[in-house]
Order: sequence, then structure tokens, then C-alpha cells
Amino acid sequence: MKHSLITGGAGFIGSHLAEMLLARGDRVSVIDDESTGSVDNLAAVMDHPRFDYTRGTVADKQLLHRLLDEVDEVYHLAAAVGVQLIARSPISSIENNIYPTGLILEELGRRHAEGRNVKIFITSSSEVYGKNPKRQWAEDDDLVIGPTACSRWSYGASKAIDEFLALAWWRQRRLPVVVGRLFNVVGPRQTGAYGMVLPRFVDAALAGRPLVVHDDGRQQRSFAHVSDVCSAIVGVMESPASAGRVFNIGSDAPVRIVELAERVIAAAGSTSNIEFISYADAYDADFEDCRRRVPDLARLRETIGFRPRYELDEIIREVVQWKRGA
Ligand SMILES: NC(=O)c1ccc[n+]([C@@H]2O[C@H](COP(=O)([O-])OP(=O)(O)OC[C@H]3O[C@@H](n4cnc5c(N)ncnc54)[C@H](O)[C@@H]3O)[C@@H](O)[C@H]2O)c1
Repeated sequence: MKHSLITGGAGFIGSHLAEMLLARGDRVSVIDDESTGSVDNLAAVMDHPRFDYTRGTVADKQLLHRLLDEVDEVYHLAAAVGVQLIARSPISSIENNIYPTGLILEELGRRHAEGRNVKIFITSSSEVYGKNPKRQWAEDDDLVIGPTACSRWSYGASKAIDEFLALAWWRQRRLPVVVGRLFNVVGPRQTGAYGMVLPRFVDAALAGRPLVVHDDGRQQRSFAHVSDVCSAIVGVMESPASAGRVFNIGSDAPVRIVELAERVIAAAGSTSNIEFISYADAYDADFEDCRRRVPDLARLRETIGFRPRYELDEIIREVVQWKRGA
């Protein structure tokens, strides 16, 4: 039986991944400091005989040493997530996204030198592409971020540092690392508290409040269901061809944000209207955004035959239903 450790496993994506790995037959351990996640997300698995939970931070070296001692695979998801959270508390967010990744890689590197091979999934983000003007982003494209004076780019830059470090461990020491660049992930259990757009829209539509769209709403994003994303994460980790490589993971079907708002209003049967605010009012005066964010999924398809099961309207319906019952 495989023993997997999920850092950030009480979060939105991590809790779905925990369920999937338990269903595969793994023993699953989770560590989470509950900064943005919650044990409520793990209600379905908390009493599972092959599951254990530790409340603590991945910045705790001794705790990591103990947890990593027993595992065969690591899924490193713990991070300060999202542009809004980083904008609010940049120092702790940047540090949280870089320092623990270094600790985990070092710890696994030591085990690797002793002959124990523990494969690790490093969770990166489409934010690393910054404002690259290409219509679709492939893994070897340039990372085009803005100036350091504009703090929103620090999220993507911190994830890029994680990638550089992980790939260096592969190149220099052959530690088996897999980097996944997640694009917008949505589904039940995602909170709107940190600015994520779909749960924020659904909350507003169900409460009859206006859906607040940033800028002109014509910016494009592509949304993937969390279970499709978790299947891809598990798929790349299972693939013998994945070590030392980077994979885009998500949906390649873009939608304009204003259209997303309209589709949420329709799915919720809501009478809400749509309001527009500037980025300056939503974030701060120096905020920059990218107009279009769509992955090239050729590498993911070639490596694991990836095919998403969910379409956007189904996802919206599911999130509306979940929020109604929550
Ligand atoms: N949701 C998306 O659309 C998206 C897109 C790209 C990348 N990602 C990445 O996916 C991962 C999971 O994101 P999510 O959407 O599930 O967010 P989330 O906030 O629900 O999950 C992150 C989890 O990490 C925990 N955490 C944070 N710092 C920690 C620390 N120092 N020690 C232990 N636990 C800690 C939080 O409490 C939370 O449970 C993150 O690495 C994020 O950057 C998410």
C-alpha cells in the first residue's frame, strides 16, 4: 500500500485529492495549518482507517522530518493562494510559498541519497506565465512578469522560484519531482473569501446581490473542475515519464468573465444584476492583470491521455447546488 502525504490537504483541492487517493487504496496523511483551509473539508475522510491528520505548518522542520520519514509520495499543495491574499499580506505569503518548499525538497533529498526514492508533486500556478501575450501558454514559453514594485506578480514569482528549485533537485540529484501548473480550478468547497471568482459570483447570485465584475469583464479565463484536476495530478504522478517535467493542468476552454457572471445568474435563477468596478478599486492603483489565460494541454494529453469530464455549465450547476446546501 502506498503512503501519500498531502500538504495543505484541508484546503479546497487538497481535500478532494485526499478522497481520490484513499479511493485508490493509499494510506493518506495530511498536514495543514488551517490558515485558509478547514477540517470541515475533510469531514468525509476524517474517520477513515487509512487517514490521519496533523494540524501544523510545513515551515516546521522537525514536524516535516517526522511526517516525511514514512511516506512514499508527497503532494505539496500548501501555499498562500491567490492574488488577493498576497496583496493583503505580502511578506508572510511570499515566505510561505518559498521556504517550506525548500525544506521539503532538502528533506527528501537526504532520503534520496540514502536510497529512498520519494516522488513529489509541486503545485505551481498559471500565474507564473504572468502577462505573456500568447493566446495559449505552453510549458516552455517565457514567463513575463511585471515590475517588483507591483506586488501582485510576487505570487507567480514565488511559484516560479519553487519550480526552479524543484527542477534543480531533479537535474543535480535526480530527485523525482513533477511540477503541475494549475489554471483556474473550481468546484464544491472552494471559498470566495479570498477573491476566487466563481464562488464569489455564486454567493452574490444566491443572495440577490450584484455580481461584481472587475474591469470591462472581457478578460478570459478557463475553469476546470477540481475532480478533473485531481485526476490529472494523480495521472502525472503515476506516469513514469513525468519526473523532472512541468505540466499545464486545467481546462483549455476560455470564457469571458462577464459571460461567466451571466451563466451563474441563469443557473441560480437569480434576479441579480452585474456591476463593474476598476482594478484600482478592487485591488490597488498599481494592479495589473492579464487579459487571457488559457493553457496548451498537448503535453498533458500526450503523457496521460487527459480528457476533462466536466463542462463549465455543469460545474456552475454543481457549485450552485453545493452553496444552496451549505
Ligand atoms: N484554486 C486554484 O484555482 C489554483 C490555481 C493555481 C494553483 N493553485 C495551487 O493549488 C494549491 C491548493 O490551492 P487551493 O485552491 O486548494 O487553496 P486552499 O487555500 O484551499 O488550500 C491551501 C491549503 O494550504 C494550507 N496552508 C497554507 N500554508 C500552510 C502552511 N505553511 N502549512 C500547512 N498548511 C498550509 C491552507 O490552510 C489551505 O488548507 C496551492 O498551492 C495553490 O497555489 C490553485
